[in-house]
Amino acid sequence: MTDSGDFDAAWLPDTAFRAVGARRSLVRGGPDPLTDTVRGELAGACARFGGEVVRDGDAAEFVLNVTADSPADESYTLRRAGGVTTLTAPSGRGLLYGLFHVVRLGEAAFAGDLAPRTHRPALATRMLDHWDNVAVHPVMGQVERGYAGGSLFWADGEARGDLGRVRAYGRLLAACGINAVAVNNVNVHATEARLLTDRIGDVAAIADALRPYGIRTHLSVSFAAPMLLGGPDTADPLDPAVREWWAAATARVYEEIPDFGGYVVKADSEGQPGPFAYGRSHADGANMLAAALEPYGGTVHWRAFVYDHRQDWRDRSTDRARAAHDHFTPLDGEFADNAVLQVKHGPMDFQVREPVSPLIGAMPDTRLAVELQVTQEYTGQQKHVCWLGPMWSEVLRFRPDGEVPAGRLAHELVAVSNAGDDRFWTGHPLAQANLYTFGRLAWDPAADPREVLDEWIALTHPGAPDRLTEGLHAILDGSWATYEKYTAPLGVGFMVQPGHHYGPSVDGYEYSPWGTYHFADRDGIGVDRSVATGTGFAGQYAEPWAKLYESPGTCPDELLLFFHHVPYGHVLHSGKTVIQHIYDTHFEGVEEAEKARRVWADLADLVEPERHARVTERFEEQLRGAREWRDQINSYFLRKSGVRDAHGRTIH
Ligand code: GCU
Repeated sequence: MTDSGDFDAAWLPDTAFRAVGARRSLVRGGPDPLTDTVRGELAGACARFGGEVVRDGDAAEFVLNVTADSPADESYTLRRAGGVTTLTAPSGRGLLYGLFHVVRLGEAAFAGDLAPRTHRPALATRMLDHWDNVAVHPVMGQVERGYAGGSLFWADGEARGDLGRVRAYGRLLAACGINAVAVNNVNVHATEARLLTDRIGDVAAIADALRPYGIRTHLSVSFAAPMLLGGPDTADPLDPAVREWWAAATARVYEEIPDFGGYVVKADSEGQPGPFAYGRSHADGANMLAAALEPYGGTVHWRAFVYDHRQDWRDRSTDRARAAHDHFTPLDGEFADNAVLQVKHGPMDFQVREPVSPLIGAMPDTRLAVELQVTQEYTGQQKHVCWLGPMWSEVLRFRPDGEVPAGRLAHELVAVSNAGDDRFWTGHPLAQANLYTFGRLAWDPAADPREVLDEWIALTHPGAPDRLTEGLHAILDGSWATYEKYTAPLGVGFMVQPGHHYGPSVDGYEYSPWGTYHFADRDGIGVDRSVATGTGFAGQYAEPWAKLYESPGTCPDELLLFFHHVPYGHVLHSGKTVIQHIYDTHFEGVEEAEKARRVWADLADLVEPERHARVTERFEEQLRGAREWRDQINSYFLRKSGVRDAHGRTIH
């Protein structure tokens, strides 16, 4: 299973390179680090499969040319004619992406003719944020919301000594198109704040390991860094001493890491410091850091996840869903060119079902990154199988202004990584599909996620028989819908245990300050976010959405309880009442999970034993968890509503 023996090869097992490695290949271009990486990849593959990397002038069946020195251009052109497959690219980076394309095609890249076709990513930055702490945090552990062991980058309070695994990670990421990584948590604690200054050497070591695969390294920083790290005793973004401090600190970062990507900032959010303390705007804060980074071509990713996390649950007028749009739309056009506003895909917080954030599309004069969560905080924590490709694709295809898909309105796609030092990278081996799918959708937001899944299956299991491919599709394709069925219903969200967020607790957050309520009582459930009678959130959308979401009669079923408070007897478009929908989906969800487990059991002869055993063990926990969700949710609503299940099934 593992080519290295220490960890799983994921979507790059040696055998995925069989077709490439069996050819005579010629590389023209370089020397530059990425073209050298391509040469190294080919040499390794040829050593295993009998091909040869030949010299200029020798006959070759696979010719790779770097035709210019345009490092920012990531495109490549592939063609095949006269028995020769040719890859041309204006940069070593493009050539590397082209090589992985040929790996995906396998033998098909060396058969017949291929008309020339140029491929280029739709989004220039395709980034993973790691919520990794250097020092183990007493509550959050080493990786905040991490479900795959410890950090890939940090161990024992410093950068890992052996960064071989980080290099292997960079290689996996390049193979699905990711080109940027932030190496520490957005909640910047005391040790991690120092990465910016006296600990920058640790970050530089990681950047060295990722660079050969075209990945730029970014750092999360504390807005209060000057005060924490021996500078001025204020962090006021308009104070000249503060601006000078950041300029000097940033200059030192670039001395260590010349291609450093920039800063990621969570400011005025969940207790993190920010510009509000000084009466300054978020544009003031972001622009100060943008100015420090600008001379070097760096970028600041400024997160829009700003809301009141100390809300009084009795206060029905404050709506957390409104917060990002309320805070940021007045600032459109004020952000510097190298400041990117990073917006969570939904208005709340990575729930299994949310509408697309109304901020996406509402700031035409601001560079925008859409942030997804690959780590499965609210979608089963990598104990439950939940392939998120269809959810992300829905987000990226949603047309915020009624016309242009969100994937084209965004300038970047960012996600919280689900990888750690676990042998299988992602805890649940099938969660590797999420990481791969994220990268490929960032490259092409219009891609069909099922086709991406086909790619992942074919790479991970070269030569997979149809039974394995079909089995994996049967397990993964509908797994998001299944998870949604047995957890919080109809877009209402949360109902999770407070703190760690795993498992059901219907009222866990109901009387808390976090702004995540369902308002269930004996008569009904849901949050009235209409303009007419509720919080007005629905009015933050452009048409046609504002009108559609405003009325329970037109609101899509799956979002009904996000936008409306309705009686249990309210009839959905599906023809069912809300209460019967809750019962039915919770029974169905468990049945679907049981079925997926049976499909997996039947694949035992086609999957290597260690991987099979790990997934089997996770399915046991998924089933236990799914039944717990079903029984708690169904019992809660039976007791609240007094309405019996139309089919007389057991509800406790
Ligand atoms: C969620 C998550 C936190 C995280 C936060 C964020 O609320 O539970 O752990 O810090 O998102 O995105 O900043």
